Amino acid sequence: MKRISRRKFLRRTGAGVAAAPIVSTLGSSNAAAQTTAAQTTAPPADGRREIRIVVNGQQRRLRIDDRWTLAEVLRDHLDLTGTKVGCDRGECGACTVIVNGDAVYSCSYLAAWAEGATVMTVEGLARNGTLDPLQQAFIDHDAPQCGFCTSGQLMSAKALLTKVPNPSETQVKHALAGNLCRCSNYNRYVEAVLATAQANPRGTRQRSSAAAASGSVGATSSQSGAAATAAGASSNGSPSTTATSAGGPRSGGR
Ligand code: FES
Ligand code: FES
Repeated sequence: MKRISRRKFLRRTGAGVAAAPIVSTLGSSNAAAQTTAAQTTAPPADGRREIRIVVNGQQRRLRIDDRWTLAEVLRDHLDLTGTKVGCDRGECGACTVIVNGDAVYSCSYLAAWAEGATVMTVEGLARNGTLDPLQQAFIDHDAPQCGFCTSGQLMSAKALLTKVPNPSETQVKHALAGNLCRCSNYNRYVEAVLATAQANPRGTRQRSSAAAASGSVGATSSQSGAAATAAGASSNGSPSTTATSAGGPRSGGR
């Protein structure tokens, strides 16, 4: 029996393995079509996908890794560092932004999920150099202390007031419940949000019509109860399902 060296054996089998896929592909009748399909469906060399999102009113096209979070994209690739990262695991709320009207934890929200979405960060609140009324109220009520939680608090409050212009105190507390403040200035944050709602014409109209409907203009308890009901809260002031769904950032997932 003819002896074959280890080197020759490896060289021959290696060539066979390398040639095998070429032979099978070229041997099929629709080899050209298969090759074309493979080329068009193959992932790009860098393994990234393109997404389009509207951030603070501006259309953006980005190439992202599937593993990137929205917080990473906003901070590291769009330079929107007003969004803070505290815990990076969906617990503190510092990273809260608004996605399609909902407050979400951007540290726990994959950027890929935001494809086609409208995103608002704290940088999108001020218009033409004028602070959003919420930002002004935060300042007026001395709410920010160290300020690390502030952008998250603002975005949770903004999401609430956009959906519920005249929230009850309970609804405000519920909406901010997912935003921790190490400086413990929770009362000031709640006061500021309520003051913004009081000054908001949408909220004022809602309060007036609710009071007129109840026939008790000036009766504070009836007024707040009716307005809270119109806003989705039950008559005893506790949040209803609607109010619950309006408040508190979501922790990723779709
Ligand atoms: S950084 Fe704490 S919840 Fe996102
Ligand atoms: S103001 Fe310091 S953590 Fe909230």
